[in-house]
Amino acid sequence: MSCSLAPGVVEPLLSGRFGRDYRYVEETESTQALLGPDDPEGAVAVAEHQTAGRGRLGRRWAAPPGTAITASVLLRPAAGAPIQQLSLVGGLAVAETVEAVLDLSVQLKWPNDVMVDRRKVAGILAEARDGIIVLGIGLNVNQTRDRLPLDARIPPASLRTVDGVERNRAPLLADVLERLERHYDAWTAGGLDAVFDGIGSRDFLRGRRVRVEGAEGVAGGLDRAGRLLVDGRPVESGEVELV
Ligand code: BTN
Repeated sequence: MSCSLAPGVVEPLLSGRFGRDYRYVEETESTQALLGPDDPEGAVAVAEHQTAGRGRLGRRWAAPPGTAITASVLLRPAAGAPIQQLSLVGGLAVAETVEAVLDLSVQLKWPNDVMVDRRKVAGILAEARDGIIVLGIGLNVNQTRDRLPLDARIPPASLRTVDGVERNRAPLLADVLERLERHYDAWTAGGLDAVFDGIGSRDFLRGRRVRVEGAEGVAGGLDRAGRLLVDGRPVESGEVELV
């Protein structure tokens, strides 16, 4: 199956401003480093292989060449905007794309994981620098079970390990970018409220016993600022463990 994310394959599928510019490399350390303050909002960097892909909290994010979607998108929200919410906005876009292709319900594990069947299929990394946000998206698409990381903290999945189907990644990437643009524009205009229903209804943690930032309790959903409520107390950020 032809499965390239080269510009000649992806650009004809793009419908909005996200993905223009479209920067594509075979190999790089991390697509997060390929975008900078001189690039326009919506510029996208994609690699077939990252040699030092990064996840949240200094973790690694690894995928064999040509199997996953590893992409970064440049965003330029207004000064003072609550940028920590952008992981949820990105997660919503990816969750909807995954739902559309798998025909299964997909959850968002606060603050940045996309989950199918209690396994992590994608992660979002929002990095702020030089007045821009670089929103990284790692979506496992065609890895077989033996090519997913063995040492992952959360059990990993790919679309292929869920339903056995090997997919062309280009339409998936175009779909994520279209949804991300729509949700980001709604968030820019109306804040988290504008996208809250899609996020709150996919909350993976709601009702589960969790430990976060040294405190243990029951996750009661997200508040309208995108914070996790644990026994009614809002948590701004941190590492959530299921207890
Ligand atoms: C996480 O799960 O902690 C976030 C993972 C984010 C991975 C993506 S892949 C594209 C972009 N480049 C990186 O180095 N990381 C992000």
